Amino acid sequence: MLVLGIETTCDETSASVVRRLAHGGGEILSNEVMSQIARHAAYGGVVPEIAARAHIDYLDPLMRRALKAAGVTPRQLDGVAAAAGPGLIGGVMVGLAAGKALAWALDKPFVAVNHLEAHALTARMTDNLPFPYIVLLVSGGHTQLLEAREVGQYRRLGSTIDDAMGEAFDKVGKMLGLPFPGGPHVEKAALDGDSTRFSLPRPMVGRLNADFSLSGLKTAVRNEIARRPEMSATDVADMAASFQAAVVDVVVDRVRAALRIARQNGSAPAAMVAAGGVSANNAVRRALQRLCTETGLRLVLPPPELCADNGAMIAWAGIERIERGMVDDLDVKARARWPLDAQASARHHGKA
Ligand code: KG4
Ligand code: ZN
Repeated sequence: MLVLGIETTCDETSASVVRRLAHGGGEILSNEVMSQIARHAAYGGVVPEIAARAHIDYLDPLMRRALKAAGVTPRQLDGVAAAAGPGLIGGVMVGLAAGKALAWALDKPFVAVNHLEAHALTARMTDNLPFPYIVLLVSGGHTQLLEAREVGQYRRLGSTIDDAMGEAFDKVGKMLGLPFPGGPHVEKAALDGDSTRFSLPRPMVGRLNADFSLSGLKTAVRNEIARRPEMSATDVADMAASFQAAVVDVVVDRVRAALRIARQNGSAPAAMVAAGGVSANNAVRRALQRLCTETGLRLVLPPPELCADNGAMIAWAGIERIERGMVDDLDVKARARWPLDAQASARHHGKA
C-alpha cells in the first residue's frame, strides 16, 4: 500500500509518500518538508495569514517533488491523506483541498487525518509498535498525555490547562532575547547554565490528575528577569537551564501520574512514545529514558525530524485508516479544533 500524505496545519508545508511494509511498519519513500520559519521570524510567532499563503506557494511543487523522489506516479498511489486539523484553519484548508482534488482526480480513497492522531501513530510506522501505549505529545500548540488503544481510539489522560509546552519554551526564549522559535535555543543556552541557580516553581507536581500548567512557570521566569537591570550571558544560560530543569521535573511527574491513571483504568500499556517538537529536547528525552527504565516501559522516541510536523506521519495515518476501511467523503470539513478523545469532544475541556 502506497499513500501520499499532506501536512499544512501550522508553519511546515510537507508532502510525503509512505509504503506499508509486509512485516509491519512503514517505509518513507520521500518526505519533503518546507519550513516557513524565515517568513514568520520577524513577527516572533506564526502569523496565520502568512502561513496559509505560504502553503499555497509551496504545496504544489512539494507534492510533485515527493512523488518524484519516491519514484512513484500518481496512478500508483493507493490513496491520498491530508491533515484536516486541528490547526490554523487557513492552512488546513489549503492542504485539505489539495488532497481532496488529487484523490478525486485519481479516483482513489481519501483520508482526512487528525494531526494529533498522526503524531500518536508515528511510532507504529517507525517501530511497528503494538497497542496500547502512552503518548506524550508536546509541541508548540499541544501538550497532552494520551493512551492509544487502537486506530481511532484514544483516551486523554491529561492536558495543559493553559500554555502549550513549546509555547512556554518560545516565550521564555523571547524573554531571554534568543531567536525564534525559542525551544532549540533555550536548550542550547541551557548547556552552559547552572540549573540550580534560580528556584522556579514546578506547577501541578504531586497532583493526582495528569494535567499540565505552564503559564505560572513562565511568569516566574518573567519576574526573575524583571528584578535584574540586565541579563548577562551567564544569567541567560542559568535561567535557560533552570527553566528547562523545571519543565523536565514537571514532565516526569505528569507522565508518572498518567501511567497511574491508565493502570487504574485497567489498562497495561507496555510502551511510551514521545511526539511533537519539544520531544526533540535532549534533557526531556534523557529524563523519559530514565523514567521508562525505572518503570519497565519501552520508550520509543522517533527521530527528531519525525517528532516535528511532517507529511510522512499523515501518510502513515492514512495507511492505517485505509486498511481498516476508515476512509472519508470528499465533503469532509477542515477543523481548527479536533480533540482526539471522544470524552473531550463532549466536554470541550482545555485546548484541543
Ligand atoms: O511539533 P512542532 O514542530 O510544531 C507544532 O507546534 O505543531 O513543535 C514546535 C515547537 C516550538 O514551540 C519549538 O520551540 C519547540 O517545539 N521545540 C523545542 C525544541 N525543538 C523544538 N522545545 C524545546 N527544545 C527543543 N530542542
Ligand atoms: Zn504537530
